[in-house]
Amino acid sequence: MSGTAGGGVLVARRVPAAVAERAQREFGAILADHDMDAEEALAVVAEKGLAAVVTGPKVRLTAAHAAKLPPSLKLVANTSVGYDHMDAAACKAAGVIVTNTPDVLTDSTADLAFMLLLCACRRAHEYEAIMRAGWRQGFGMPDKLGIQPSGKTLGIVGMGRIGQAMAQRARGFGMTILYHNRRRLPPELEMGAEYVEDLREMLPRSQVLSLHLPGGEAGVLMTPETFGLLPRAAVFVNTARGSLVDEDALIEALKSGQLFAAGLDVFRKEPDFDTRLAELPNVFLTPHTASATVETRDAMGFRALDNVAAVLAGRPAPDPV
Ligand code: DGY
Repeated sequence: MSGTAGGGVLVARRVPAAVAERAQREFGAILADHDMDAEEALAVVAEKGLAAVVTGPKVRLTAAHAAKLPPSLKLVANTSVGYDHMDAAACKAAGVIVTNTPDVLTDSTADLAFMLLLCACRRAHEYEAIMRAGWRQGFGMPDKLGIQPSGKTLGIVGMGRIGQAMAQRARGFGMTILYHNRRRLPPELEMGAEYVEDLREMLPRSQVLSLHLPGGEAGVLMTPETFGLLPRAAVFVNTARGSLVDEDALIEALKSGQLFAAGLDVFRKEPDFDTRLAELPNVFLTPHTASATVETRDAMGFRALDNVAAVLAGRPAPDPV
């Protein structure tokens, strides 16, 4: 750890250099040199009497932690849009403000979701593996064919900012777009997509399905039954949360041909994910990196610090959850 104590702020995870520099300049923040867990972060906050902690997904604050938060603590500023790794309600009930970083990772997440869609449709993993093994044999005309997104129907589950950005990209690729959301969006935000109130009605029409809703409350959405409602040889994309998916059912659907392929950035267990997925040829995998661009990680860090600045100055946090 580096930095001056007493500045009131702990940055409890490694952050990009520009974010660390601002945290130190503006708040004299204590900067962790590794990603802290909840116990370690709270111990530093308590020991130094700090008012704010900037956290990552490793800081899994539970109701038990919330029951004994250090009295100096006013703010938990997550550097993520999702906050299902912590019990935000319990922390708020204990009088601590909790914030997240919406908006700033919309494009990078939709970019990666669309990359996964294309890679799954076009067998990117298999082609890449062939090249790396030293391609020596050509393919016959009907062999190793992918499927083409244009003209296909994409079902988007969760039409928040990221779902809308996914729809924008899919439109550019000539896809027909359906969406399921808690409520229908105003027409100007629908991007020409059709609202389907009942998920069970949307699934049989979705040749490609992409999840864009928070984990937590939504529970397990993709089960043997819901995978079975998709048209045969559908493509499945998940950049939302692994907790939304029964991975046994996903693996079975990939093996049986119910799914043609999947593109996955998130898993029920991270980072020690179910490696049976990696054994399947028709899966394209990325390690929860949807927000991992230079631009977005800087913006996420700065957004968390904007919340710190507001709360320390006695103003309302811009991004309370
Ligand atoms: C988020 O911000 O919720 C992304 O999943 C990155 O953690």
